[in-house]
Amino acid sequence: MDKSITAACLSALLLISCRTNNEVQKMIDKNLFGTLPDGQQVYSYTLKNKVGMEVSIINYGAAVVSLTAPDRNGKFEDIVLGYDSLEGYINDKSYFGSIVGRYGNRIGKGKFSIDGSNYQLTINDGENHLHGGINGYNKVFWNAEPVTTDSSQSLKLTYVSQDGEQGYPGTVTLQVIYTLNDNNELQINYTGVTDKPTILNPTHHSYFNLTGNQENTILDHELTINAENFTPVVKGLITTGGLAKVENTPLDFRKHEKIGLRINNDFEQLKLGNGYDHNWALDNYNGKLQKAVELYDSSSGRKMEVFTDQPGMQFYSGNFLDGTIKGKKNILYKLRTGLCLEAQGFPDSPNKPSFPSVRLNPGEKYKQTTIYKFSTR
Ligand code: GLA
Repeated sequence: MDKSITAACLSALLLISCRTNNEVQKMIDKNLFGTLPDGQQVYSYTLKNKVGMEVSIINYGAAVVSLTAPDRNGKFEDIVLGYDSLEGYINDKSYFGSIVGRYGNRIGKGKFSIDGSNYQLTINDGENHLHGGINGYNKVFWNAEPVTTDSSQSLKLTYVSQDGEQGYPGTVTLQVIYTLNDNNELQINYTGVTDKPTILNPTHHSYFNLTGNQENTILDHELTINAENFTPVVKGLITTGGLAKVENTPLDFRKHEKIGLRINNDFEQLKLGNGYDHNWALDNYNGKLQKAVELYDSSSGRKMEVFTDQPGMQFYSGNFLDGTIKGKKNILYKLRTGLCLEAQGFPDSPNKPSFPSVRLNPGEKYKQTTIYKFSTR
C-alpha cells in the first residue's frame, strides 16, 4: 500500500481514538434510577472529577443521592443520607438531598401578601407551610441536561412551577446547576424568573455525615458558623421577626465546637427545635459569596466548608430522624445521624418586614450561589 495513504489512515485512526477517549473521559454517566407512577423515567447522573470525587443526582426532586469524598487516608465514602431506590424518594418526608422550594423553610400559617393580595399556601407542618408545601420541588420531575467543560462536570436542572402551584402566585422557571470541579467543590447555582410578583427562596437539603458510616451520629462533628446572631423561634419553629445574639448561648458556633457538646442544654430555643433547627444570620452579608460554615469530623479527617451569597444558614441537626426511615444499605437512620446546612433567606421572611426580602418581580432574576467544598486535615 502507498506509504502516504497508510500514514494518513493511521493519523485518522489516532484522531478518532483520541477523540473517543476524550469523550469517554468527559461523559457524564447516566443510569436509569426508576420509573414514576405516571411512566416518566428518572435517571441518575454521576458527576466525577479528576481526583476521584463523585456526585450522583437524580432528576426527581433534583436530589443528590450520593456524594463520595476522601478521608485523610484517601478512602472515598458516601457522606450523604438517602435511599437506594426511587420509591424511597417518592415516599420521603425528610427532603433527603433535594432542592426545596418554592420557599425553603417555614411560612407562618402559610399566609403572606404581596401588594395587597393575600395568598394561602398549602399547610404541611402543623399549622404552617414548610419547604414549598405538600408537593414541593422535592416531589417533581426536573428536566436534566448534562454539561461538561475541561475542568468540571455539571448537571443543569430546570423546573417550571405553575401559577397557583401550592398557592404561590406566578409561573416561576427555576434553573439549578450542580457543578463538580477538580478542587472538590460542589457548586450549586440557582437562577429564577417569574411572570407575576412572587416569593422565591430555594435551598439544598443534603444530610451530611462526614464519618462515612451512616450508623454514626453527627454529634462529634465540629462546627463553625460565622454568625453573631440567629433568628429566634416560637412554638412551631416560626421566627419572631427579631434577631438574638448567639453569645453565651449554645447557638454560639463562632469558634468551632462539637455539635453534641451543648445540644441537650436546658435552653428554650433548643427545646423548641428538639436540638438545633435554627437560622443563623450570617455576618457581613452583602449578597456576595462568602465563607459561612466549616464542619469537621476528626475521626475521618473530612472537612466541609460552605460558601454562600445568602443572608441565612439553617443548621438542622437531624432531630426528626428516629430510626424508622430505612435508608441506603438498609440502614435505619437514627436520631442525629445526618445534618443539614441550608443556605437561604430568613424563615418566614414574607411576613417579617425587617428580614431581607425574597420577593421576585417580573423582569428580575433570582440568583443564588452556594458551594460545598471538601478537603481533609
Ligand atoms: C428543615 C426544617 C426541619 C425539618 C427538616 C425536614 O431543615 O428546618 O425542621 O422540617 O427540614 O425534616
